[in-house]
Amino acid sequence: MKEQIEQLLEEIKGLKCATDKEVEEARIRLLGKKGEVTKLFEEFRGIAPELKKEFGQKLNVLKKEATAKIEELKSMAKATGSASTNSDDVTMPGDPYGLGSRHPVSIARQQIINIFRKFGYDVAEGPEIEDDYHVFEALNFPPNHPARDMQDTFFVSVGHPNPLLLRTHTSSVQVRTMEKMSLPIRVICPGRVFRNEAISARAHCIFHQVEGLYIDENVSFADLKQAILLFAREMFGADTQIRMRPSYFPFTEPSAEVDVSCNICKGKGCNICKGTGWLEILGCGMVDPNVLEASGIDSKKYSGFAFGMGVERIAMLKWQVNDLRHYFENDMRFLREFSPCVEV
Ligand code: DAH
Repeated sequence: MKEQIEQLLEEIKGLKCATDKEVEEARIRLLGKKGEVTKLFEEFRGIAPELKKEFGQKLNVLKKEATAKIEELKSMAKATGSASTNSDDVTMPGDPYGLGSRHPVSIARQQIINIFRKFGYDVAEGPEIEDDYHVFEALNFPPNHPARDMQDTFFVSVGHPNPLLLRTHTSSVQVRTMEKMSLPIRVICPGRVFRNEAISARAHCIFHQVEGLYIDENVSFADLKQAILLFAREMFGADTQIRMRPSYFPFTEPSAEVDVSCNICKGKGCNICKGTGWLEILGCGMVDPNVLEASGIDSKKYSGFAFGMGVERIAMLKWQVNDLRHYFENDMRFLREFSPCVEV
């Protein structure tokens, strides 16, 4: 019996298993009902009483060693073994890769584009690194307008009469469109914009805008109002109301800011709309004749409207996201909430 115990101890020490299955086989061979260690315990019952103490101790050590070794092999097989088990059986199904989903800003941007496409608008794009002329000058910004200040704009090159900068709005694409497209023009310009802002729940230095431009003969403010109303109802629901408040932009005259009735409280007043029943969604107005003329369009014959909205803002209002930073952090728990959102 002594030799048997010693032999088994040696065997246990050198035991190696590559897979879960092999570990289980070793466990059964040693510790199973008919296993070798179990058998020795049965033999132990019949040995002489004076030997019981010595052999009892030896057997307990053997059992402990066997159990510990099996546990160790089990966890080793778990850590490395899944690969080796799989590689043994090439017919096993592969590890599933979860399909990603669209980012909420991308979903909102696509929804805005699809709505205006239905209204007959084309999509135009322009460069993110722009010159002062297309971002400011052609849009009627006076030379000392605060937006031209380094505090608000990221300049790429300075000291030049037409310095390069990161566009602060997609209105620059309006100008590029007017320069090269023949009339009438009906476009939306989605894109990324950059502002020298401190990052907070309501502001970021990179965000997205969709600009709209419609130029033809006899375009009126009533056309603008109707286009915005139809858009708001497609985006936020058929019972959405809009209101326009007078505002100022250098490139439109008259200018307005548009609010939609709060889609949470239906205009009654809640903490999302700060009790007012209204949420601001965009800026707009009739294209200033100076802007038309700067791009070679006869402002006596043609008129037009323009509007610009922040995509993150629309997405925040639509899905009640209260912190802009969520859109940039890529927290999977946040992003997964949008996987069922299908594009219109
Ligand atoms: N460009 C403006 C901004 O970035 C948004 C805007 C307001 C665009 C009025 C327009 C407009 O076309 O008419 O804040």
